[in-house]
Amino acid sequence: MRVVIQDNYEKMSLWAAHYIAGKIRAHMQARPFVLGLPTGSSPIGVYRELVRMNKAGELSFANVVTFNMDEYLGLPREHDQSYWYFMHDNLFDHLVDMKPENINILDGMAADPVAECARYEEKIASCGGIDLFMGGIGVDGHLAFNEPYTSLSSRTGVRDLTTDTRIVNSRFFGNDPGKVPAQALSVGIGTVTDSKEVLVLISGHNKARALAATVEGGVSQKWTCSALQMHNGAIIACDEAACGELTVDTYKYFLDIEKKERL
Ligand code: GLP
Repeated sequence: MRVVIQDNYEKMSLWAAHYIAGKIRAHMQARPFVLGLPTGSSPIGVYRELVRMNKAGELSFANVVTFNMDEYLGLPREHDQSYWYFMHDNLFDHLVDMKPENINILDGMAADPVAECARYEEKIASCGGIDLFMGGIGVDGHLAFNEPYTSLSSRTGVRDLTTDTRIVNSRFFGNDPGKVPAQALSVGIGTVTDSKEVLVLISGHNKARALAATVEGGVSQKWTCSALQMHNGAIIACDEAACGELTVDTYKYFLDIEKKERL
C-alpha cells in the first residue's frame, strides 16, 4: 500500500487529480478508461482540478466511462442530496467532452433495487472492470456505504446505514438524521478491490482513526477500508491533519518513501 501525505486538503486534491489525469492520458487500450468515483466533501477538490484541466484542454474525458460508488435508496435524481445530483453539480455538468451515456450511477428509485445492483455489477464487467476506483471513507471507515461488519468480499447491494452515519450525513439534510435515507445502494468491498487500482482520499482530523485503521490495524470487517491492505494497487492520498493517529514510525516511513510526491 502507498500512503501519500500532503500538507493540506488542497495539495492532497491536486496530487490525486494529477495522478488520475496521468492514468487517463496513459491509457492506450481501445476500450475506454473505466473510472470509479465517490461523492462527499473529500473528492470536491479533485473534481475542481479535473474540471479545470478538462476546460483548459489538458485532459479529455471522451474516452472515459465512470461508475459511481453509491446512491441513497429512495431519493430521486432531482433531489439536491442525491448522488446523481451531486456528481452532475460537481463534475459532469462542467466537463466539455464527457459523454452522458458513459456515466453510470446506481438508480436509487429502481423498482427492484436488488436487480439494479446485479445489473450494475454486470455493466462493470461488460466494460472490462474498473481501472481506477477513487474513494473516500466515512469516520467509521466505511468505503462507499459498506458500514462496519460488511463482508470484505461483498458485491454491489442494498445497505442499511448506521445511526452514526446518518448523524454524520445529516449536515446535508438540515441537521436532521431522520431525513437521511436509512438505506443505500452501494458497490461492495469486493467490487472496489477488484479494480486494478484504488485511490482513497482521507482528509481532516475526524478521519485520523480511520486512516490509522486503514494503514496500521489488522485487516478486519470492523474497518471495511482495511481491506485495501490486501490490494496490490492501493494508494491512500491524505493530508497532515488525518495523520494524527498514525504511529511516528509509520508517518516517517511514508514521508520518506514518498518524498518525491510531496507538493
Ligand atoms: C458518505 C459516502 C461515502 C463517503 C463518505 C465520506 O457516507 N457514502 O462514499 O466516502 O460519505 O464523506 P466525506 O468525504 O464528506 O467525509
